[in-house]
Amino acid sequence: MNHRDDFPIFKNRPELIYFDNGATAQRPQSVLDAEQKFYTTYNSNIHRGPNFLAEEATIAYEDARRKVADFLGAHHKHEIIFTRNATEAINLVARTFGETLQAQDVILLSKLEHHSNIVPWLQLAERKDLEIKYMGLSTDWRVRFDPALFDERVKLVAITGMSNVLGTITDLKPIIKAAHAVGAKVLVDAAQLAVHEPINVHDLDADFLVVTGHKIYGPTGIGVLYGKEGLLNSMPPFLGGGDMISAVFADRFIPAALPSKYEAGTPNIAGAIGLGAAIDYMTKLGFKNIQKSEHELGTYLLKQLQSLSFVKIVGPETMDHRGSVVSFTVDGVHPHDVADGLSSKGICIRAGFHCAQPLMDHLKLSGTARMSLNFYNTKEEIDKGISTLEEIYKYFNK
Ligand SMILES: Cc1ncc(COP(=O)(O)O)c(C=O)c1O
Repeated sequence: MNHRDDFPIFKNRPELIYFDNGATAQRPQSVLDAEQKFYTTYNSNIHRGPNFLAEEATIAYEDARRKVADFLGAHHKHEIIFTRNATEAINLVARTFGETLQAQDVILLSKLEHHSNIVPWLQLAERKDLEIKYMGLSTDWRVRFDPALFDERVKLVAITGMSNVLGTITDLKPIIKAAHAVGAKVLVDAAQLAVHEPINVHDLDADFLVVTGHKIYGPTGIGVLYGKEGLLNSMPPFLGGGDMISAVFADRFIPAALPSKYEAGTPNIAGAIGLGAAIDYMTKLGFKNIQKSEHELGTYLLKQLQSLSFVKIVGPETMDHRGSVVSFTVDGVHPHDVADGLSSKGICIRAGFHCAQPLMDHLKLSGTARMSLNFYNTKEEIDKGISTLEEIYKYFNK
């Protein structure tokens, strides 16, 4: 599958080798066009002015919400709340659903979580005197499902769908089932998963699920919280201000109905419209094609890395239960030096803790280098990455 030409950055920088898709994906022209069209032909605030321009903008914004609902398999479009990113979506749940929890309740996380799915819960635990517990790491580098951890004290399980460090994909269904059996709700962090695997919130029976726009070819500054209708209706509002109210009096207010209840103030209208265009783009390519291409590239990358005696892959060595996000270490070379060496040859990777310090502590690592591939990467790029790794290793181990 070669859709590289859809991405202007590769035309503007023909030498660029971009292996940092786990941090943010590149944007196709259609996403840029959708945002520009909004600003240049129907820019207006939404849900407010009774005029034709506001109406056009509102229709486009709400149409984007419909696209997200379809993309995630949500039954109702009002179960989709636009946020700034995945981080804000998780914080929204912590500040609303979280406020209903009582002292000594347990929140169950996993050792594989990104800081975005740890820190809001640590903050909440401090405010409400809760206990945080962790599911460990299985021998196949996935979240270890330990039924013994699920009891009546557990009120929320917040868990990643795909590790941003190891690339492994969580077997979510047994965990969600076990959580529901003890009356706990489940939040799925799909920030990494959503670009690699189709998601259906109903099939999963997830209570909350978060996505970030910029990792699925959409703009920055736009994210999504999916929540089951009943839950979203039962929780208090998040931020206060315009749009999230149906009436305001001098001494009280009545919150708006979903989804406005959780979208205070002027939202990122262009961002939502751009995200809708990104979903259109992915839908047109088709997940089957995207996955086939990433599976091939991931398999090739893993094989090439394994051929280097001085490289250790941190994660599974085959593409079973994993996406094309690959962490590794290089003997005698700090991950930051690996990234610097590759960068000097025009190759972008990520190095360090990857916002997952508890996982690094668990693995007793001071960091990894990470190559994360999307479908537009090529085997030739991987070859250049591998030969540059050989040069870097030789340079540091003279
Ligand atoms: C697994 C995971 N969760 C959450 C996030 C946070 O995403 P954002 O910074 O867009 O809120 C990231 C970003 O790298 C991630 O990889």
